[in-house]
Amino acid sequence: MLKVTREDFIPHDYKDYAYLEVPLPLPGEEATISCPHSYPLFYEPLGLDKGHKFLEVGLGSGYGTALAREIVESDGLVVSIEIDPLTFEFAKTNLKTAGYSDIILVRGDGGLGYPKFAPYDRICITAACIEIPPPLIEQLRIGGRLITPVSEYGTQNLVLLEKSDKDAKTKVICEVLYVSFRGIYG
Ligand SMILES: C[S@@+](CC[C@H](N)C(=O)[O-])C[C@H]1O[C@@H](n2cnc3c(N)ncnc32)[C@H](O)[C@@H]1O
Repeated sequence: MLKVTREDFIPHDYKDYAYLEVPLPLPGEEATISCPHSYPLFYEPLGLDKGHKFLEVGLGSGYGTALAREIVESDGLVVSIEIDPLTFEFAKTNLKTAGYSDIILVRGDGGLGYPKFAPYDRICITAACIEIPPPLIEQLRIGGRLITPVSEYGTQNLVLLEKSDKDAKTKVICEVLYVSFRGIYG
C-alpha cells in the first residue's frame, strides 16, 4: 500500500478524501473505490502472495488491481474484469498513468470468469453477489481460495471459499457493505 499512490486512482473532485476510510464514487453506473482498509481485509485471508495467478472481478478504479500486481510480483499474473464501460476506461487510464502495463484488463461480465488464464490461484470479487458464480469456482485451482461479499437476508458477509479435490468449504469473515454484483449472476 506504500508503493501505490491511492490518489492516482480517485476522480479529480474527490482526491482530497483519498485516505479517508470511506468509499468514493467512480465514473460508471454503480462503482466505488472501496475504503483503504478493505484491501488487506480481502487480501490477507486470501493469502495473496508472490507468484500467484490472480483474477479480480470488479476492477473499479484499478487501485486494488495495482496493489495485487505489487503483491504477486513479476512471477505472478493479474487479470481483472469490469462490467461497466465507463468504469473500465477510468481504470485503464489510471493504471496506464501509474505505469502498470502488464495487467490483463477485460471488459465484460466477470461472473463468467476468464477461462483463457484459468486455473487461478486466487480470485477476489469486489461486489456483493447472491451466490458465488459457479464459473468462478470452476476456474479456481484445487487448493485455491476465493473471497467475496455475499448478500443474504438484507446483510452482506465477506465469505472465504477454499477449494479442495472433493468440495469447496466456505467461512464467514465479517459483515461488509458493497455495491451489488451485476450481470447474469447479479
Ligand atoms: C466496489 S467496486 C470495486 C472497487 C475496486 N476494488 C477499486 O479498488 O476501485 C465494484 C466493481 O465491481 C463492478 N462489477 C459489478 N458486477 C460486475 C460483474 N458482473 N463483472 C465485472 N465487474 C462487476 C462494478 O461495476 C464496480 O466497478
